[in-house]
Amino acid sequence: MAKLRAKYDVIVIGSGPSAVSTALQCAEHGLQVLCVDNLLAPETNKLSNGIFAHSPTLEINTLLSSANLFCELKYHGSSHGITFSNLSLNLPQLIDRKNKIFLQFDKDLFKFFNDANVDFYNANAKLLSSNSIEFLFSYSEPAKIIHSDHIVLATESIPFAIGCAPVDHQHIFDSSCAFSIQEIPQRIAILGAGVIGLEIAGIWNRLGSKVILLDAQESFLSLVDNQLSREAYTIFSEQGLELKLGTRVVSTKIVNKKVIIEYEDIDGLNTLRVDKLIVASGRKPNSQLIASPSANLLIDQNNFVYVNENCRTNLPNVYAIGDLTMLGPMLPQKGIAEGVFVADRIAGIRSASINYETIPNVIYTEPQIAWVGQTEQTLKSKGDLIEIRTSNLNCHFSNKSPNYSNGIVKIISCPKSDVIKGIHIIAKNASDLIAEAVLAMEFSSTTEDLARTSHSHPSLSEAIRHASKSPKKLPLNSD
Ligand code: NAI
Repeated sequence: MAKLRAKYDVIVIGSGPSAVSTALQCAEHGLQVLCVDNLLAPETNKLSNGIFAHSPTLEINTLLSSANLFCELKYHGSSHGITFSNLSLNLPQLIDRKNKIFLQFDKDLFKFFNDANVDFYNANAKLLSSNSIEFLFSYSEPAKIIHSDHIVLATESIPFAIGCAPVDHQHIFDSSCAFSIQEIPQRIAILGAGVIGLEIAGIWNRLGSKVILLDAQESFLSLVDNQLSREAYTIFSEQGLELKLGTRVVSTKIVNKKVIIEYEDIDGLNTLRVDKLIVASGRKPNSQLIASPSANLLIDQNNFVYVNENCRTNLPNVYAIGDLTMLGPMLPQKGIAEGVFVADRIAGIRSASINYETIPNVIYTEPQIAWVGQTEQTLKSKGDLIEIRTSNLNCHFSNKSPNYSNGIVKIISCPKSDVIKGIHIIAKNASDLIAEAVLAMEFSSTTEDLARTSHSHPSLSEAIRHASKSPKKLPLNSD
């Protein structure tokens, strides 16, 4: 480990995806960088020796791939001529695989940092002023003060705790420890049918649990284009998820090792009895301990760090990026883009500002939901004239043949200019398909541009071309 210097060009606090992208980009510009994270080792609850570049999304992705493989073999193996006499699932091994992948990921990152001359330390860092941080390795040692010309805050977000469902790590879990459950529960409830709730639900459902999602909102996935959220509702219900919308959890208690959930819906108060409850009620910026009061860092009542359009806080030379700020959605790809942008500015390179309109959103369910740009309901509410083209994936031979699932690609464009305003996909691998849509929007492409773009055949990517060539429709008023 490199010796800790008294002064750096840049200190990055955090080591999630946004922090890593900042540190590596700064190093590429020849700046002397220190990255610091206070990640705790789960076994000891003391400072770990790890980098935390794995976001919750990475955990979900790793586990979902195992759960999908299990389901494929169990339900579809025989159609390929693959049969098992004794197909079984070992949960600890499945979790162990994920942990090993993360460990390797950490090792690779340490190597990247090492090769790029980025110093990395596990310690508690706190902003003291616009050019100094307090560095605490343990509470028994005196703190060190390290100076830096620039400081980047990138401590991301943490699960939002709610009083009616206190996490005890035995019966009630939050989304960050949703897979520390040692055995596959028979019945599991998830509080919150948002992005994270659905991602977690898909995994436990595939591993064999009966999953019930409770959400206070009447509408399902209201951020998603309504046509796709309706499709998702149908698909997830058919997969066995029980979606209880308009259902507000008001209290929980543990009786005989079961969780008794009291909830309110249109019929009044009801109860539900499950083995485990996972709370996925949202996330909040991880900003509470980030700065000493004397630093005068501006943080709002919802814990968001105030920044201007260049991610700069109210303090000169101090930046905040990723989930810490209200600029754009809470998505790793947004933080990564901001990390690169801020590093360029620190190095004196004035790159183009981030186009938050073309940051893709992805929900890692199966099928995945991905979109870029605006939804039909948002555009209609603004009174914008739009045209819609959709393609049903199972209507095309090329999409059907290589074992692709159902899904929809929807393209919304301006009737006058044909310029694309939004692309919405529900499909297997939508997170990959959306890349073409992002590029198209980044270059202000038209649907005709997409229709004229050659796509490999047969491939799922053709779904985008099919959608762009499909007959245009005007939006329905009922939506
Ligand atoms: P969310 O805000 O999407 O969903 C939380 C849900 O919990 C809401 O629908 C809310 O109505 C419900 N809720 C809250 N209290 C309740 C109660 N007492 N009873 C019943 N329902 C209740 O939050 P989520 O899914 O935790 O995601 C947080 C953020 O993290 C989002 O901004 C998301 O975009 C981001 N994220 C994105 C990922 C991705 O790109 N795949 C992965 C992880 C996070």
